[in-house]
Amino acid sequence: MGSINENNEKDMKILAIESSCDETAAAVVENGRRVLSNVVVSQIEEHKLYGGVVPEIASRRHVEAINVVVDEALDRAGLTLNGIDAVAVTYAPGLIGALLVGVNFAKGLSYATGLPLIPVHHLRSHIAANYISNPTLKPPFLCLVVSGGHSHIVYVEDYTKMRIIGKTRDDAAGEAFDKVARTIGMPYPGGVNLDKKAELGNDDAYQLPRPKLADSPYDFSFSGLKTAALNLIHNTEQRGEKIAVEDFSASYRKAVIGCLTDNFIKAADDLDCSRLVIAGGVSANTLLRRDLTRICTERGYELFMPELKYCGDNGAMVGAQAYYEYLKGNIANLSLNAAATMSIEK
Ligand code: KG4
Ligand code: ZN
Repeated sequence: MGSINENNEKDMKILAIESSCDETAAAVVENGRRVLSNVVVSQIEEHKLYGGVVPEIASRRHVEAINVVVDEALDRAGLTLNGIDAVAVTYAPGLIGALLVGVNFAKGLSYATGLPLIPVHHLRSHIAANYISNPTLKPPFLCLVVSGGHSHIVYVEDYTKMRIIGKTRDDAAGEAFDKVARTIGMPYPGGVNLDKKAELGNDDAYQLPRPKLADSPYDFSFSGLKTAALNLIHNTEQRGEKIAVEDFSASYRKAVIGCLTDNFIKAADDLDCSRLVIAGGVSANTLLRRDLTRICTERGYELFMPELKYCGDNGAMVGAQAYYEYLKGNIANLSLNAAATMSIEK
């Protein structure tokens, strides 16, 4: 096990594995905060050919990459398995076949070495990316978790105790970006490309709705906005005109990000919570980061964001959350299974 540090606590090095979607990733993280290595192999180029992630291809590519990625993570940390104190893995939610590759690999490692096995929830790990980028950040805080598959407002009471305050009724924010980006000809995953074009456009050029749910002010609904955007594109094309890509991207981005920031800030105001955090792939969005920085400065709220390299899926964030799960006693045995869906509250 690890050495004793100056606070008389055991230093703990966790080897963490992530394979929930289209990135095969592994990292070594010390005490939940210090990244010793972080290796990510992306499958995006292959999925681009199909306009989105093909689950069967994702699983196969994980199987091919995982050995090399884990070896590389140990190498870059200057360690062998002898220097590792626990193995962590994303076990839910995600593509089931993809998750199973990581889970089975981690179980094999744990069985062969006798190291504890720590199961990590994917969205909790996105939140934990912030502990790496912001060493002073501690719960409680309110977090906007926005990824390709989820959009939540979560009250993080403690590292392993969370309450969902609001969530999407239909599409996730990342999905809403990707589907519309694809329709205007951007390659998968469109969110980042749309964000770049939006920086160059006029965000008042196209009028789009900003749906609100009267009965639940913290929930999101993006399907109506997405459909309105798709209709606008198709109607423009039917008239023989072309969409102005930069202006349209800016207008659409303003509508999606506006829904996120409006509800997030309302929740913070209503809950009287002035420490705000963002997480997940969409937390890389330029407008989201810019608007929240401005709004939080105006209100005197603290805002924490992950560095861009930790916004998307990676192993380091899994290692960060795993440390706190371990301290809480959340350790799995070899019957651990993957799950395609699971609440962040569990
Ligand atoms: O968290 P993530 O890497 O994977 C999931 O757990 O889903 O999130 C991926 C999502 C994709 O939908 C992608 O388009 C979106 O994050 N994304 C962005 C940006 N960068 C990535 N969306 C908007 N603006 C960005 N800059
Ligand atoms: Zn993710």
